[in-house]
Amino acid sequence: MAITVKTNSITEAWRLVENSIIFYSKRPIGTVAACDLHRESLNYDQCFIRDFVISGLVFLTQGKAEIVRNFLTETLTLQSHEKQMDFFKPGPGLMPASFKVDIVDGKQVLIADFGEHAIGRVPPVDSCLWWIILLRAYVKATKDISLAYQPEFQQGIKLILDFCLVHRFAMYPTMLVPDGAFMIDRRMGVYGNPLEIQVLFYAALLAASELLLPGNGGVKYLETINRRLAALEYHVKEYYWIDINRVNEIYRYKGEEFGKEVANKFNIYPESIPHWLTEWLPETGGYLAGNLGPSQLDFRFFALGNLMAILVSLASEQESQMIMDLIEQRWHDLIGNMPMKICFPALEGLEWKIVTGSDPKNRAWSYHNGGNWPVLLWLLVAAAIKTGRVELANKAINVAQSRLSHDQWPEYYDGKNGRLIGKEARKYQTWTISGFLMAKELVANRTHLELISFEKDPEMISCVN
Ligand code: GLC
Repeated sequence: MAITVKTNSITEAWRLVENSIIFYSKRPIGTVAACDLHRESLNYDQCFIRDFVISGLVFLTQGKAEIVRNFLTETLTLQSHEKQMDFFKPGPGLMPASFKVDIVDGKQVLIADFGEHAIGRVPPVDSCLWWIILLRAYVKATKDISLAYQPEFQQGIKLILDFCLVHRFAMYPTMLVPDGAFMIDRRMGVYGNPLEIQVLFYAALLAASELLLPGNGGVKYLETINRRLAALEYHVKEYYWIDINRVNEIYRYKGEEFGKEVANKFNIYPESIPHWLTEWLPETGGYLAGNLGPSQLDFRFFALGNLMAILVSLASEQESQMIMDLIEQRWHDLIGNMPMKICFPALEGLEWKIVTGSDPKNRAWSYHNGGNWPVLLWLLVAAAIKTGRVELANKAINVAQSRLSHDQWPEYYDGKNGRLIGKEARKYQTWTISGFLMAKELVANRTHLELISFEKDPEMISCVN
């Protein structure tokens, strides 16, 4: 009986993903965010770049590369090339958050949204990073590097790099972004140097270094990428990592240190160590902090950044094992009844009011504020496989499998343990469905991991000192 249920949910999932496909000039070019007929669609009838990446990966595992190729080609034409100083337009290099097919004068056209219509009105910094990561996955799956070598693609990659590598008001190798510039696309106190963006940036730089040709100025980009990668890796490892030894160090930090050679480089006050952390952090566990800024170390655990850090080898082997140890030992908090919590713990009370601007959708243990997102299952499974913790991958899949189809594939779950279907969650959310399928594919065939996993290049010069 159990086997029948499982098989049915997989067959259903494939059918739903197929039904979510968007066509443009009769060619498949993406998938809608959700197909919930009982709710106002808002922009969920559009194709989001970050959401499609998971559909794209799952299509690649099936040898269905055409839709991914079309997606990459069409979204490239949507990339902003805006050079004039129009401060109401996206800067050059930016990729849209989402797009839709519309009809103008009887003809199909693609309409992009760079965040100007989205609820939080935030630029989707992660879109261009995901785009490069998916392009690299396409090349891995098809062995067809010629797409990436096309002049428009080379130009597109360079535009993204120009946009990301530019020196702004920062003296760190991380990328400075506004609040809500990624999957968490509304105010959540994730402005500055949030982990998710830094890890995606790292992955995109690695991918670009594999895809860029040296000609036409490419060599200069490749040199800059290598330097930035080494500095970024050092910075994240040195300053974002948290384990009990590091907490002890911070606990005895002196504040107000002046000068270059100081221990407490960001002037973090020991009093900012949250009460929950010292009890919660297991002896053998560790993770990368959510954010780092002046007198600010965001101690919250963010799932996507930590899992991706394992996949892109930004976390060392030992650190990766420690992240998985933390997940295993704090399973109840981080996984609960539906893998997995987007961040932990939730912001409550006055803190929630100040940080989110009293956002009712982001109440404690809901949505982006400690809600459980089934889409994260595939990343958890991928990280578990990479670290040899297959038992955790299977355990997580079993948890998800028992509910997802029955609950009609919700976008997210609420409550401290993820037992409630999200208050405002869409049903038939595509990345929930494709995330589940991707998790199953990864367990069935571990070679799919290479689509999203990056190994450390021993040639990369370290800039530690
Ligand atoms: C929500 C999520 C965002 C996602 C979009 C479409 O806005 O916050 O990450 O891309 O829905 O699913």
